[in-house]
Amino acid sequence: MPFPTTRPRRLRTTKTMRRLVAENELSVNDLVYPLFTCPGTNVKEPIPSMDGCFHLSPDIIAEEAIEIASLGIPAVLIFGLPTGKDATGSEAADPNGPVPLAIKAIKKACPDLLVITDVCLCAYTDHGHCGVVKDGKIENDVTCQLLAEMALAHARAGADIVAPSDMMDGRIGAIRQKLDAEGLVDIAIMAYSAKYASAFYGPFRDAAHSAPGEGDRKSYQMDPPNSDEAIVEMQLDLEEGADILMVKPGLPYLDIIYRARQKFNVPIAVYNVSGEYMCINAAAAAGLIDREAAMMESLISLKRAGAGIIITYHAKEAAKLIAK
Ligand code: PBG
Repeated sequence: MPFPTTRPRRLRTTKTMRRLVAENELSVNDLVYPLFTCPGTNVKEPIPSMDGCFHLSPDIIAEEAIEIASLGIPAVLIFGLPTGKDATGSEAADPNGPVPLAIKAIKKACPDLLVITDVCLCAYTDHGHCGVVKDGKIENDVTCQLLAEMALAHARAGADIVAPSDMMDGRIGAIRQKLDAEGLVDIAIMAYSAKYASAFYGPFRDAAHSAPGEGDRKSYQMDPPNSDEAIVEMQLDLEEGADILMVKPGLPYLDIIYRARQKFNVPIAVYNVSGEYMCINAAAAAGLIDREAAMMESLISLKRAGAGIIITYHAKEAAKLIAK
């Protein structure tokens, strides 16, 4: 029945009415908060390019984890910095490195908080690439084995979920096989399946000290014009044993999240990355937008597109607003 009988505005008349008919709702249960750990003791160093984010040494990271757990956020995603870098990123699999120590500390302080770890070599290699370089090329299959060792070190330290973000072919299978061979059959894999070569990682590379020295990541991360290819990547990861599929970044790739949700019957995660976070913060600091409103609008757009898991630097603030 057309206008004037049908008037969609009837359902927007009051806040309560809008609440009643809302099709999607952001829940604290959807959120994952990223944390950065580094060598040393008693280190709490602000990350200059990322508001409110710190490098935290493993001995004090549990304090942050306790706050996150108390907000009801179900999971953290941990990134690490090594003491030294080399060609193969050998510290990545060190069982006594900052990440395994941080996992143990967090699990001791908050046993129920899920610990997810980023599995990638880029913060550990002296050239800053996500894989081993030979003759100017990234060596796929050798890298997969190193990633599997890294994932194993995290799983042995008590990680619940490992999250490979390197975009090598076959790494999900390599990690699953390694974990299963060691009896770690219950450790889940969240695959950064559709990870694009994005300009929106800019602020993060400061945090992870991981900008590639030479070249870029376009030979392994996905090309922004493509979306069918994202489905291929996800299908492969699922077949290799991924439990959760991720799209990254979020806001410029809502169509990919939507397609993933339509196609696959596993949880779909999205990474609302550092550049998305800082665009909102910088625009708000310049007096151009309302920060809280823009934050909540962008988070609900990720949910509406189909993401059930949202990794975001806004998580703590969003959790507080949801609880209000
Ligand atoms: C490293 C990695 C990156 C991010 C997560 N893991 C950077 C990159 O690939 O260049 C980006 C996170 C963010 O920007 O918030 N493999």
